[in-house]
Amino acid sequence: MKKVLFVCLGNICRSPLAEALFKNHIQENNLSHEFNCDSCGTAAYHIGAPPDERSVANALENGLAYTHKGRKLSGQDFESFDYIIAMDDENLENIKRANTNSHPNIYKIRDFDVLEQGADVPDPYYGGEEGFQNVFDILNRATLHLLKEISSSK
Ligand code: 4NP
Repeated sequence: MKKVLFVCLGNICRSPLAEALFKNHIQENNLSHEFNCDSCGTAAYHIGAPPDERSVANALENGLAYTHKGRKLSGQDFESFDYIIAMDDENLENIKRANTNSHPNIYKIRDFDVLEQGADVPDPYYGGEEGFQNVFDILNRATLHLLKEISSSK
């Protein structure tokens, strides 16, 4: 079983959606027996909160229903998860700063993208509606390529 943790800042916009889209790809590819995943934030602002309603509404327009309960990244996560996947450079820096035990598999989600590889997933929190669709499209594509990459690895 491979365990994958998606991490953003608030754990209400990008990472819960990444988790939901990754799970969707897992199911569609009959790989549920192979993967376990979760999401969290580097900040504590939204602990216990559901995903941002604008993200949820946009995902529903795209045919995806999901929910999540916000939580903050913990030291235990470095023990529990095989892959820790940040949304942007700021998340990545914060994760690496907390990584006291040299976790070997910390990446940005767009390291696995095929368009603008290595770019950040823009934070849609302060933007308009089109920002949420852009994030949905990026994460739908990048999580599929992440799955292709790590489902064939040992
Ligand atoms: P996320 O977006 O990191 O994609 O969940 C944000 C959510 C909340 C805040 C910032 C970014 N905030 O400042 O509360």
